[in-house]
Amino acid sequence: MATEISPRLTAIVEALPLRPGLRVLEIGCGPGVAARAVARRIGGGHVLGIDRSAKAIAQAVAGSGAEIAAGRLRFRRVAVEDFELQEGEQPYDIAFAVRVGALDGRHPELERAALDRIARALVKGGRLFLDGGDPLRERALRSPGDCAAPLRDGRMLRRTQT
Ligand SMILES: C[S@@+](CC[C@H](N)C(=O)[O-])C[C@H]1O[C@@H](n2cnc3c(N)ncnc32)[C@H](O)[C@@H]1O
Repeated sequence: MATEISPRLTAIVEALPLRPGLRVLEIGCGPGVAARAVARRIGGGHVLGIDRSAKAIAQAVAGSGAEIAAGRLRFRRVAVEDFELQEGEQPYDIAFAVRVGALDGRHPELERAALDRIARALVKGGRLFLDGGDPLRERALRSPGDCAAPLRDGRMLRRTQT
């Protein structure tokens, strides 16, 4: 897996509605390329990257020493369908996933389980962004209070229902 950020991943990171102080969850972070780029854009916020692959998490940790040391980034090996907040862990404002099979529509049962876990890990009004839009699409979650706002630079999101 690539460890340098691609133009496509850069566009995705730039399209996320990031701001200082946000808590961001990346699902299927692979070697942590996007998670690192997000961590650099959220000031004193925090990013958690999760992946079911131990190899991916090892690569992500190995490549993220500075961000981890600064307390801006962590990684955890867990499948999204099993993910839950740990004791004392604050919920996340935004979640995103890029090229993750559990959320690409091909596995409806797995996707339902994943969406349920993501909704539980987000604040009320928390938002989930997936690739496959322009460049992102927002996936509506069960919880009330979700709002569809334009992305940065005026790009709009395509919304799909659970
Ligand atoms: C194609 S890679 C994409 C990595 C990164 N998002 C990117 O775009 O560069 C898919 C990643 O999602 C992870 N993944 C697949 N299914 C998952 C699941 N159910 N829960 C967590 N991670 C998963 C894989 O282990 C892999 O690292």
